[in-house]
Amino acid sequence: MSILVTGGAGYIGSHMVLHLLEKGYEVVIVDDLSTGNMEAVLANKFYKADIKDEKAMAKLFDENKIDGIIHFAAFSLVGESMQEPLKYYENNVTGTLQILKYMNDYGIKNIVFSSSAAVYGESSSPIKENVSANPTNAYGETKLAVERMLKWASKAYGINFTALRYFNAAGSHASGRIGEKRKIETHLIPIALDVALGKIEKLLIFGDDYDTFDGTCIRDYIHVSDLASAHLLALEKMANENKCGMNMIYNLGSEKGFSVNQIVNAVKEVTHINIKTMIAPRRLGDPAELVASSEKIKKELGWLPQYTDIKDIIATAWEFRKKMR
Ligand code: UFG
Repeated sequence: MSILVTGGAGYIGSHMVLHLLEKGYEVVIVDDLSTGNMEAVLANKFYKADIKDEKAMAKLFDENKIDGIIHFAAFSLVGESMQEPLKYYENNVTGTLQILKYMNDYGIKNIVFSSSAAVYGESSSPIKENVSANPTNAYGETKLAVERMLKWASKAYGINFTALRYFNAAGSHASGRIGEKRKIETHLIPIALDVALGKIEKLLIFGDDYDTFDGTCIRDYIHVSDLASAHLLALEKMANENKCGMNMIYNLGSEKGFSVNQIVNAVKEVTHINIKTMIAPRRLGDPAELVASSEKIKKELGWLPQYTDIKDIIATAWEFRKKMR
């Protein structure tokens, strides 16, 4: 079975590719390398292209028989999406629209879509999939728009889709081969680790006046390899059931919330290095708390995360970051 991974040179995408290869799948990657890294490209078949580029994508589909798609290619920064929402709509929504057209043109039935906890906005935790989605940022709106587009496309064309709403992806592959490496880093754990490495002087804590137990934002951090295993379970389920118009939506989180301060403390414990911090204004678009209930995917797909301790997750990130060039 040959799987197309869009955004396969990115953080989560590259972990997905490695997981598929480990499980014996053939993998084709498409990535425009706008945010991904060439050194994270682990499959032999790699197309450097924008998924909206119909000519490049026609070549890819003509040269490979694709059995299923795992679709990561997207912009994913909450803060940036508030400054440049149209960039997000164009890349995330139009990009997926194109993917759906290719699926129709080439008779591809199954897609796993990389959605986000950002679709929920301010919701009381633990968040279940059936609470109403009400994003507080443009990024979350684009993910919700795509989920809805998938629903209608699924009804009309018989496409099967699974939308996985990730909470905060964290950590690195146990081998240390790939990890969280971006051209510009904005995420909490890698920035805290860069403070530990002395690359950044201090961590700015974006707001300490949220309605949470210590005033800083609470998030649910889930290991990137556990995210990858969930995608494959979803794809296999759709392929094995061989139905038309299946649609599944699942949360993927650890079901545990950590405040920014708690993450800083966990980073100190893992690295044994003091992390200098400074309180800064809130970042636009940030909800106070996002913690998952992941019961549905555990029950329906038998997903079982391997990493259950935040310090173990941070330790994998630390191993990679220390070696990162
Ligand atoms: N934070 C800081 N200082 C920093 C960086 C982050 O205080 O230097 C805070 C943020 O304000 C937030 C928390 O740490 O409260 C986590 O921020 P990240 O930037 O690491 O992650 P986000 O929660 O903003 O977003 C991530 C993904 C999104 C996804 C979301 C789902 O980037 O794609 O998780 O929860 F939608």
